[in-house]
Amino acid sequence: NKVTVVDREGATHNLEWEPDQTLMEALRDNDLPVLASCGGTASCATCHVFLEKDVFENLSERSEDELELLVEAEGYQECGSRLSCQVDFSRNLDGVTVTLAPEG
Ligand code: FES
Repeated sequence: NKVTVVDREGATHNLEWEPDQTLMEALRDNDLPVLASCGGTASCATCHVFLEKDVFENLSERSEDELELLVEAEGYQECGSRLSCQVDFSRNLDGVTVTLAPEG
């Protein structure tokens, strides 16, 4: 998949998201400043991103754990916030734009 990432300075980056990666891994492995300090277990929220509303709405629901962390996170968006470690690769996500959330 191709992904466009908007970083915290507003600069855009184009990257390749491989099928064996979560979205967090694709971001991290492409040197974007995603700390992912919990290693992808939905317990740190440093992988918080915003998705476009139509993309967000086509994903499966956030788990209770994910939502609990997100509502406390800086800049939480009801219709856009995701923990990128909880977003698995899908062909439907080709061409999406992902915006890094502010550091909490
Ligand atoms: Fe920690 Fe996603 S990497 S919540």
